[in-house]
Amino acid sequence: MGGKFIIMGGAPLEGEVSANGAKNSALPIMAAALLAKGKSVLYGIPRLRDVMVMKKVLECLGAKVNYNGRCMEIDATRLNNHKVPPDLTRKLRASNLVMGALLARLRKVTAAYPGGCDIGSRPIDLHLKGFQLLGAEVEEKGGYIHAELKNPPVGSEIYLDYPSVGATENIMLAAVFSRGKTVIRNAAREPEIIDLQNFLNKLGAKVRGAGMGTIVIEGVEELKETEHEIIPDRIEAATLLVAGAITGGRVKVNNIIPEHMEAVIVKLREAGVEVAVQHNSIEVTCDETIGAVNIKTLPYPGFPTDMQPQMMALMSLAEGTSIISETIFENRFKHALELNRMGADITVEGRIAVVKGVPKLSGTFVEATDLRAGAALILAGLAAEDITVVENIRHIDRGYEDIDLKLRALGAKIVRVDG
Ligand code: UD1
Repeated sequence: MGGKFIIMGGAPLEGEVSANGAKNSALPIMAAALLAKGKSVLYGIPRLRDVMVMKKVLECLGAKVNYNGRCMEIDATRLNNHKVPPDLTRKLRASNLVMGALLARLRKVTAAYPGGCDIGSRPIDLHLKGFQLLGAEVEEKGGYIHAELKNPPVGSEIYLDYPSVGATENIMLAAVFSRGKTVIRNAAREPEIIDLQNFLNKLGAKVRGAGMGTIVIEGVEELKETEHEIIPDRIEAATLLVAGAITGGRVKVNNIIPEHMEAVIVKLREAGVEVAVQHNSIEVTCDETIGAVNIKTLPYPGFPTDMQPQMMALMSLAEGTSIISETIFENRFKHALELNRMGADITVEGRIAVVKGVPKLSGTFVEATDLRAGAALILAGLAAEDITVVENIRHIDRGYEDIDLKLRALGAKIVRVDG
């Protein structure tokens, strides 16, 4: 069940591929399209399982969605449902992003607690606190959340105890029609937040400050139609670059914004990988042994937690010992166990992993326990001796479009077996 990838490791990857539009930008922007009484045309929407679930969520709420290739048209003129279907919410954590949009458009929303990757408890208290500060009454009962604005939302000062990506986005959406000015302090600074701001402003919203930690939203009456192209996926791109590095190859990834990938570039260089940065591409070359580097995940512009598993795979083959600290999620080391089954030497103590580099990994049966863990196992399989079977790849399909095809274009021996 869940499909598998069969990988014959050992071939150095060589060639060029392009990154797709960013999953983590596409999902909030799809939710934001619910705010407009009109049609949003979005380009560069990657064909992913998470995107398909979000599409269903929007349709259940009354939006008309047309998805052709990577172009998605969302017409939210008529929204007729404020209840987010619980089966879909549990499949996709990011579906909680429609809460802010529904609160703004329909003044009420009911949703089940969200699901998503199994990487620790992921509360949404900061989202709800933001809604309350905008004037919403929030009730949590029996696994459901109901939020309602009895009066028009009022601009407010909101300080986030933590720069949560989802809370920042949800509050931006909820505040778009508020009376007066909303200020979100200690907001997340990820590039995807800036993309959301750009989309909202094209719709006619007045949002500024994204990317700088303080976001100011001046309420407007209504939003109109627009078109928007999603920014490139920095995590997909970085994963493909690590594929080049871990196999001792040469891989160029096009269609990216290198400034979004600074922390990853620095760490790859520190590990001895040659990284050539151009205007909208990065090429890695790796013909030396990889050196051990320490990594600590942090909110942007720190090292992304979504690249931690892939870097752990790389470090498992480094010369020396790396310390990897995971500060964002409480339980994001499940891939360490699977990597150890391939011959890695990784010890986990709470949120710290000590990775002692080994000279080689050996293929075996491993399981993708979540999206990025699955990516890490593919990378390990590409570098390992013999055959690696990565099971349960439905997790990987949540966030990587046709990763097997992209890797095959670079010379990897990887086949998909549906199941
Ligand atoms: C987003 C990304 C995900 C990435 C993560 C961190 C999307 C669709 N997903 O997830 O790929 O790994 O950012 O970069 O963009 N927290 C709370 N209370 C809250 C909200 C969050 O305690 O109300 C905690 C979470 O449990 C977690 C941490 O804050 O430990 C980070 O979460 P957050 O930044 O909100 O991540 P997501 O938006 O869920």
